[in-house]
Amino acid sequence: MATINAYQALDASEKEAKKDYIDRHSPFITVANNAKAGEKLPVNVRLGKDYSHPDDADHYIAEIKLFDGETLLASAALMTGVNGGQGAKGQAEVTFFVVPQKKMSLTAVAYCTKHGLWQSDPAVVLVG
Ligand SMILES: [Fe+2]
Repeated sequence: MATINAYQALDASEKEAKKDYIDRHSPFITVANNAKAGEKLPVNVRLGKDYSHPDDADHYIAEIKLFDGETLLASAALMTGVNGGQGAKGQAEVTFFVVPQKKMSLTAVAYCTKHGLWQSDPAVVLVG
């Protein structure tokens, strides 16, 4: 089983020492805290809060997946070049649209071709 890295799994000293490395690989979810059942809800996932990741042919963000608990809701495949290609850096980003029926606990997982799997903090959406 592949190791899944998580932003929150590192202690404060590790975080400071490796901040750019951790930040640029971590998916961050932006979504409303409250939603209406049956209505389309945008869920944005961006890699990196403050730092950009390389977009080289041998090193890029290749996939972003969105889970509700254990259930895979959506997946986006990205190719090198989406953020400018060789020598460029950027923040891989995708907006999924989901239609909630009940409370969701969303988590995103991203895959870097060199540095493996990275998991976001969960984002809870209350549905009324
Ligand atoms: Fe990487």
